[in-house]
This record gives sequence, C-alpha cells and structure tokens, in this order.
Amino acid sequence: MKKSLKAISLALTVIMLSILVAACNSNSGSGKISVGIVLPTKDEERWVQDEQRFKDAIKDTKYKTEILFSQGSPAKEKENVETLINKGIKVLIICPPDGDAAAAAVEAAKKEGIKVISYDRLITNTDAVDYYVTFDSVAVGAAQAQYLVDHAKGSGQPLYLYAGAASDNNAFLFFEGAWNVLQPKIADGTFKIANSSEAEALKDTAKLSRDQMSKIIGQVTTNWDANEAKNKAQTHLTAAGADLKGDVVILAPNDGTSRSIADVFATDSAVTSYVISGQDADKASVQYIIDGKQSMTVFKDVRTLVKDAMGMAVAILDGKTPETTGSYPNGAIDVKAKQTDVIVVEQSNVKQKLIDSGYYQASEFTGL
Ligand code: BGC
Repeated sequence: MKKSLKAISLALTVIMLSILVAACNSNSGSGKISVGIVLPTKDEERWVQDEQRFKDAIKDTKYKTEILFSQGSPAKEKENVETLINKGIKVLIICPPDGDAAAAAVEAAKKEGIKVISYDRLITNTDAVDYYVTFDSVAVGAAQAQYLVDHAKGSGQPLYLYAGAASDNNAFLFFEGAWNVLQPKIADGTFKIANSSEAEALKDTAKLSRDQMSKIIGQVTTNWDANEAKNKAQTHLTAAGADLKGDVVILAPNDGTSRSIADVFATDSAVTSYVISGQDADKASVQYIIDGKQSMTVFKDVRTLVKDAMGMAVAILDGKTPETTGSYPNGAIDVKAKQTDVIVVEQSNVKQKLIDSGYYQASEFTGL
C-alpha cells in the first residue's frame, strides 16, 4: 500500500515537472524566440527610431521577440538570421541593407518553415518572402517633387537630383514617384536639370523603365550615405556655372542626405536660395526645418509600420491569415503587402504633425 502511494506521488511529480519544462520551452516562455526582427543598420536615425518603436510595441505582446542589426552587411544579416533560426523563431521581420543579397538569408529561413515579412524595403528576386509591410514609397517621391514644384520661382530654375542606394528597391520607387511629377515641369521649362546627363538625356520620357532609372540613379546616388551625398553636392557645385546657381531646387531622397546636401548649398555664395526635400522626420531634420535649413520632410509614422508588422506576425502565430491591401512585384513573385500613407511636414505644420500628435516631445527641439 505504502509502496504504491509512493509510486503515484513520484509519477505525479514527474508529470508536473514535464509540464513545467514544456511551459518553459513554449513561445511565451523564457527559452525560445517567436519573432525575429532584423534591421539594416544602427548608423542612421531612421532605423534607431524603428528599434525604439518595436521595443514599445513588443511590451504588449505575448510572444518573445529579439531585434538584431546588420550594420549594412548582407553577411552579418545572414548570420543574424541563422542565430534567430537557431533560437526557434516562427516569423522573421526583416529589412535588408541590400534587397537582392538578402535572398540567401530568407531562403534559409523559409527552409525551416519560417514565415518571412519584408519590412519597409522589399527583398527582391526570390520567392522566399511571404508578406511586405511598407509605406507608399511612390507617394513619398511624388510628395518630395510636388513640394519643389509648388515652390518653384519663375522658369528655367536649376534642379539638382539625388537618389538613394541602387541596392534598395525603395530608391527606385521614390525616384519613380518624383520623376512622374518633375518630368512635365522639366518638359515645360520650369526646371532645368543641373547635375545629371543621364536624366537630361531622358527628359522627354514620361515613364521611365527600371533600366532607365538605374542609369540616372547610378549617376546621382547618395548610397544613403551622408558623406557621399556631401561629396557629390560639392562636386556638382564646383562644376556648375552661374546659370546653374541662384535660386535652386534640390530633390534629396531622405533626411540624412538632405542635411548634408543642404549644408553644402548653404555655403555657396552664388546660391541665393534653395528648396530641398527630405524624408523620415529625423529629429535632426525636424530641427533643420524649424531653423529654416531644410524645406520639408515626408513623415512616415513608424508606429504604424511596426504595428502592422507585429500584427501580421501575431496573426501568423495565432494561425490566422494576415490582412493585406495589395501586392508588390519583387522580380520573382507578387508579394502580398500592407501599405501605409505618408504625411508632408514643413515649418508651418511641424508642431501639429510631430509634437501635438505625440510622436516627439517639444523638449527635444529648440525654437519651436
Ligand atoms: C527607407 C527610408 C530611409 C532610407 C535610408 C529607405 O529604404 O524607406 O526611410 O531613409 O532607406 O536608410
């Protein structure tokens, strides 16, 4: 009798222990990671912003997540993805430094049955991407260009063109959106292209092919690098004659490059005024806008993108089908996508759009 009681209590202990071990190994336990997030670099304010917004959002989820940075290197990105695969992730949210080069990393994840969400930048030329969460990037470029058009002075105004990195599919979408708005204004003589013979050669082409865009981007790329942007702007202004100075307009693809290009144009005494675009609402650029050194930025509310990406991940983990609003071709397949709108910010609405909306604190800026 005593012996069988002992056996029962031993069996019960074993059962309870195994339940405990199983709980520890489950997604919500401390062992495994359910969602891996891989961001392109910590060296740009934009992606540090995304990290912070992910951290804010993760607090409310029942699933364990981990964020890693690739520091602009596809090799580091692959290593990050392998680390996360080994930690048992079921969903990968990934924004690549290079859209083509990321294929190897997501194909490795796919092999393990992991669902892949391309975040902000589309991973290209592979079928190993399940979903894409993005802003309306064509609208970003169109808004930048429209701002230049709306602030044009007279006719024959010099137009300086700059673009993002050719390894980033977004650089093409931004440029496409901008060209759609700028080309008619180049054709009607409002603007004259100041710094790109490739754009000049294509100035009568309303819709550019990817190859045609490649040619222009190849010439005016900043590679998303503030230093490269600065060097290019210096070279362009050194080469430009008086007819390409005076009141100028500048298509700058994002805030980091906009600030450094603006600094170069501001120090050329033959440039009497400049209107320059941007994107991201970087804090440093918000200050530039307040100070009148950058004309506008396109605000992309990262909270929404993070919410959409995490919403998709949770839907997948809960066995549901994520909501999508359209699709984007990535060169191999059409990737189901969820898209978010963007907001134009300039000096007159900076307080309303970025402070009153709770995105930033007033104390982070001077002269508001
Ligand atoms: C993003 C921009 C960012 C740029 C440079 C793009 O893919 O959409 O927000 O400024 O990369 O990092």
